[in-house]
Amino acid sequence: MIETLRWTAAGVEMIDQTRLPHVEEFVLCRNYQEVARAIRDMIIRGAPAIGVAAAMGVALGAAQAADENFDGQFLTICDTLAATRPTAVNLFWGIERMKRLRASLADQPLATVRQRLIAEAQLVHEEDIAINRQIGAHGAPLVPDGKTVLTHCNAGALATAGYGTALGVIRAAVEAGKSIDVFADETRPFLQGSRLTVWELQKDGINTTLITDNMAGHFLRSGRIGCVVVGADRIAANGDVANKIGTYGVAVLARENNVPFYVAAPLSTLDLSIPDGDHIPIEERPATEVTAMFGHPVAPAGTQVRNPAFDVTPNRYVTAIITERGVARAPFTEQLRKLVEGN
Ligand code: MRU
Repeated sequence: MIETLRWTAAGVEMIDQTRLPHVEEFVLCRNYQEVARAIRDMIIRGAPAIGVAAAMGVALGAAQAADENFDGQFLTICDTLAATRPTAVNLFWGIERMKRLRASLADQPLATVRQRLIAEAQLVHEEDIAINRQIGAHGAPLVPDGKTVLTHCNAGALATAGYGTALGVIRAAVEAGKSIDVFADETRPFLQGSRLTVWELQKDGINTTLITDNMAGHFLRSGRIGCVVVGADRIAANGDVANKIGTYGVAVLARENNVPFYVAAPLSTLDLSIPDGDHIPIEERPATEVTAMFGHPVAPAGTQVRNPAFDVTPNRYVTAIITERGVARAPFTEQLRKLVEGN
């Protein structure tokens, strides 16, 4: 299985996703500042992977923080990591989990606190892989046999600690013996679809066809696509879904053509503190991601640019949300809450 990131004695190692698919190289983040930079620069990306990296960043920072004013430093570490990317709620979820653990160990010696934080970050990593397999098991029965699955961006092993959410559903369907192939949207401007999704599905021997984003409507109309499966960066309490820019258009086109639109995500992507998608902060990325490709300009100098990295798909376009505890359908507010509460 592709290893996205790992904890080592020297720091946090992660595969450099800005260099894939041509260069398969691990970079070592030696301190929490380097972890924060790796998240911001998208060396590591994808909501669950960001959450795991953040937890590891907190553990690394705590391991290196001096005894004097430990809690002041701990807060700075958490704040620095939290300031990297605003949309994927898993980032804040990972940091909060580490903060809660620190608070619960208030009476323990700092050596114990550091050890426990490291163990917790490793647990977050392990749990994420297990959660993705559960998402896969719940999602596989929804994938029609003998059809094509359309996906957008990369919600695969690379976007998680391993196995993937949307690609986990595809992997589980293939493992269950279904005959399916995949259409991958290239996902402008960062090309997570062409660079990452195609790369990892090819490694698994899953038949994958790359299309540009503007071809999705054509193929959804053709009758070839059996369902769409995507990941999520934040899901509001009512089931509105923030995911990679372009997802909304795919969802509307899927509805227009009666193709089921599934969202696969762990419950750590659910943000019950916000009632709907209008409350989700949308990250704006640098203009150069749009005006240049691999350093080559593709627009006149001085071109005005907007570059929102995510969009919000209203819940009415979502057929179901596949989580590790089961599948939620409309009415989402009720069904998502039931999954969270475990009943
Ligand atoms: O900007 P990115 O590459 O971090 O965006 C990733 C996505 O939008 C994914 O679809 C989402 O995080 C789910 S990953 C399992």
